[in-house]
Amino acid sequence: MENQVLLKFFADFIEAELGIIYVEANYFQLEHRLKDIATQLGHGDLQSLYQAARPGIHGQMRSLLLDLATNNETSFFRDNSIFKALSECIVPDIIKEGGKTSIQLWSAASSAGQEVYSIAMEVDQLRMTNSAVPNLRIFASDVSDTILKRAEAGVYSQLEVQRGLPARLMIQYFDKNEQDQWVVKNSLRSGISFQKLNLLHNWGYIGPFDIVFCRNVLIYQSVENKTKIIKEVWKHLNPGGYLVLGAAESLFGLSQDFDQLVHGTAVFYKKKG
Ligand SMILES: C[S@@+](CC[C@H](N)C(=O)[O-])C[C@H]1O[C@@H](n2cnc3c(N)ncnc32)[C@H](O)[C@@H]1O
Repeated sequence: MENQVLLKFFADFIEAELGIIYVEANYFQLEHRLKDIATQLGHGDLQSLYQAARPGIHGQMRSLLLDLATNNETSFFRDNSIFKALSECIVPDIIKEGGKTSIQLWSAASSAGQEVYSIAMEVDQLRMTNSAVPNLRIFASDVSDTILKRAEAGVYSQLEVQRGLPARLMIQYFDKNEQDQWVVKNSLRSGISFQKLNLLHNWGYIGPFDIVFCRNVLIYQSVENKTKIIKEVWKHLNPGGYLVLGAAESLFGLSQDFDQLVHGTAVFYKKKG
């Protein structure tokens, strides 16, 4: 089997699953990563990995291939202005509308969990000064099993907490373990659930949500896939619900079903009607 054909087989699988396209110019990168997977799974070479994959890609091989293609870059309070918008504008607006005993929030590409715990801390801090803040229920999902397990564990290195987590919040919401890592306290975890979910495929029964964070994941998708994902997000949002995208992402050319709102330097969206 010629190497190019073999690499195209895996590139096609990744594109069908994740919408992430490996152009031939990047096949050398794909080959390098596939060799790692072959070693991890006890295959001597790529030919042997390919033979095992041909009948169907399942289990650990599937997980490793999805991990290979995804970028999990994240940090606490990434693009901080959106967290200020959450506590100063979005949650107060939901309270003003009334009738909520809890706020349902979805973090749709939660990576290692920093986004989820930042949201929980931001809203918890607001609750300390505003007793009208309802309980927050966070549904966190990602396509990668490995990263989702990390998010659920809520254990971070010194370097990771130094990226965006203020010392005051670190002391309040994290404990130090024997390996000098920072572990999220149970009080912050309550109300957060984690589930594997691929935004390109069947979403199952989730929601409806008051707020969706879908940040820094659309950026890797074609316009067609972005449009499809946004349409699905729209369906899973309550009327007047909020959508938050990454700082470099926008709904421009993708949907007219949301109003754009601005708070400070943060831009976010509200479902029309
Ligand atoms: C760059 S991280 C963004 C993390 C976080 N939202 C943030 O902004 O810091 C992108 C995440 O999207 C996940 N991802 C990529 N494709 C996905 C898909 N089709 N469905 C669900 N998650 C996906 C990746 O596994 C990764 O953890």
